[in-house]
Amino acid sequence: MSGETLVALAVVLAAMAAATVATLAYGRYSKRQLERRLKRIEARLGELSSLVTLQEPVFSRPLPWTSWTLSAGCLLRIRDSFAKRPIRTVVECGAGISTLHIGRFLAADGGRLVALEDDEVWARAIQRLVKEEGLSDVVTVLYRPLVEHQVLGHRVRWYDLGSPADLGLDSIDLLLVDGPPGVSGPMARLPALPILAPALADDAEIFLDDARRPEEQEILRLWQEALPSKLETSRGARPYARLVLEGSPNRQGN
Ligand SMILES: C[S@@+](CC[C@H](N)C(=O)[O-])C[C@H]1O[C@@H](n2cnc3c(N)ncnc32)[C@H](O)[C@@H]1O
Repeated sequence: MSGETLVALAVVLAAMAAATVATLAYGRYSKRQLERRLKRIEARLGELSSLVTLQEPVFSRPLPWTSWTLSAGCLLRIRDSFAKRPIRTVVECGAGISTLHIGRFLAADGGRLVALEDDEVWARAIQRLVKEEGLSDVVTVLYRPLVEHQVLGHRVRWYDLGSPADLGLDSIDLLLVDGPPGVSGPMARLPALPILAPALADDAEIFLDDARRPEEQEILRLWQEALPSKLETSRGARPYARLVLEGSPNRQGN
């Protein structure tokens, strides 16, 4: 998304806010309805401002952001984590724009990202972008079709991964769970933590996008039951969750 598009979107949102106020003046909205609408507009402005912050000229082309893309707020929070502590290894479930951004965060320090992806065409498209952006030494997009797994009392379709050792990483400093897509079946993101937990570093951070959805709420509950951990959920239009394991040096939200 270009800078001009972002500015145009911001102008549209500001116009919507003005229109909402004008509508109230005509008495068509109750105060509560107006407050709810303004809150939504405010949240979208927050997401836009994160997007503007992320749009540094680090890529050779504007990236194709869509509503499938990880929230810009979550990407910014991940970038903050990189600024605060050494992160060398990242595993991502669900490749996309986030793969390129995290690849860039890691490239500065010679780290590695493995992105699991169940859509073969999408995996190839992202791997091609990775190559074009000169990130092939840092990022591997691993195509893995979905197969049935039995985890935490649920039968779920998740990536065909024998064990975390198949990822070729010593340990995982940061795990981002943004796939498989919800349409692939119920509780699609549940297996990520139980299956990858044995490879997590002591101070690993885990991010889960779309944290407001009832299914993700249930997943977070089951994860916390299985692995004692501290949970933070962001505010805004597209809340994400961040988990750090009990006893981790990152527990205080550092
Ligand atoms: C929530 S998306 C993952 C988004 C990814 N982390 C990103 O930031 O772009 C979950 C899955 O949707 C599928 N998908 C289909 N079209 C997509 C698109 N345009 N962008 C991203 N994911 C897409 C992919 O299989 C992907 O793994």
